[in-house]
Amino acid sequence: MTSYITRKTPGDTAWFTRDRFGMFIHWGLYAMPARHEWVKTRERISEEKYDKYFEHFDPDLFDAREWARQAKAAGMKYAVLTTKHHEGFCMWDTQYTDYKCTNTPAGRDLVREYVDAFRAEGLRIGFYYSLIDWHHPEFPIDHLHPRRDDENAEALNKTRDMHKYAEYMRNQVTELLTNYGKIDILWFDFSYSEVPADAKPWMKGKGKNDWEAEKLIALARRLQPGIIIDNRTEIEQDIWTPEQFQPTEWVKHPETGELVVWEACQTFSGSWGYYRDEQTWKNPEMLLRMLVNTVSLGGNLLMNVGPTSRGYFDARAQAALKVYADWMKFNSRSIYGCTMAEPEFVAPVDCRYTQSADGSRLYLHLFAYPFAHLQLKGLTDKVEYAQFLHDGSEILFTDGKMDHFGEGLPQSPDDLTLYLPPVKPSTLLPVVELFLKAEP
Ligand code: GLC
Repeated sequence: MTSYITRKTPGDTAWFTRDRFGMFIHWGLYAMPARHEWVKTRERISEEKYDKYFEHFDPDLFDAREWARQAKAAGMKYAVLTTKHHEGFCMWDTQYTDYKCTNTPAGRDLVREYVDAFRAEGLRIGFYYSLIDWHHPEFPIDHLHPRRDDENAEALNKTRDMHKYAEYMRNQVTELLTNYGKIDILWFDFSYSEVPADAKPWMKGKGKNDWEAEKLIALARRLQPGIIIDNRTEIEQDIWTPEQFQPTEWVKHPETGELVVWEACQTFSGSWGYYRDEQTWKNPEMLLRMLVNTVSLGGNLLMNVGPTSRGYFDARAQAALKVYADWMKFNSRSIYGCTMAEPEFVAPVDCRYTQSADGSRLYLHLFAYPFAHLQLKGLTDKVEYAQFLHDGSEILFTDGKMDHFGEGLPQSPDDLTLYLPPVKPSTLLPVVELFLKAEP
């Protein structure tokens, strides 16, 4: 067994830290302007103008089974769909607002189709639910709100009642956690108690007290015991969620220093929602490295797709998913059930280790392909057998000192030397699987 123990969580994170890889899906009306899911507030779009998206939302090519198949093929084991994003539009047939997909040309409960299809493919089901709501009439205007520069914004705020909005959230979360069977993850987003210095004096941030987060969480736990909840209500729950940056060490609790359960969320390009003209798409190597880096530091990766408004993954997103599919088909053993390698195993330059949680196998990921020999520190007499993971072909090695070719190299008797073929095998990121000898 590897020796890592993480801070205790109220929900069941055992499956989560085994599965490691999930699909985030940001889908809503913002897929239509196709210029970022924050477009409503970035461009300060009025309700009336934003309504044109509501009137024309028609995902005629949406096939949830096709999404689920692509997620599964990519090696993803769970998914998290935006049931409501900051724009306030609801992707299910809620009875608490008319601002929902069933009242658009879509005319169907999109959450229901997602749940059924992903569950049928054996994936776990997550719901993203935005705490922020730029449509709800009781949600107080603040520095992030599309109405922030309106002349009457301060006056408008006087009649807005946060308690009513908090109650609305509880009602909706009740629907989501009651009508769709077992839900594995609830992903709230997000709190901002501090307001920037240039905000107008009457603008307030929002955090756990505003959301009435304690009640909201108690409700979720009552309806779905064991569910995993993120920390973004401002009350610590199960998972820490670094976003748009990659941690360089296992995420630790800021006060106690304990290791925590964490999940990085990342995008294929810069935006979460479908962004037609966005050009910063990550290349295949980077996509794979992000997954490996994450698991090599004991974390999960939630990789985002922003489907088009017609309901399909565009060619760029499909290509990115295919990168994972091609690699995971042969290499998923270095991801599932794996974690950070024991500290005694220090990966060579340009390499990353992961280790199976039972401690028996070490996976060496070759980010840059070395020439012919690779020395592994501290592994002499510890490896029973070595092979490339993708094709199960043996990799020869010597314990201790290398043959005469190694004369003059700085070698320690603790090093083990792998003999690698001179040509990089035809896999984007080769992995060597090292079977460790059982501890005496
Ligand atoms: C953010 C953004 C957002 C996105 C989310 C994903 O906080 O507001 O648009 O949904 O991060 O982590």
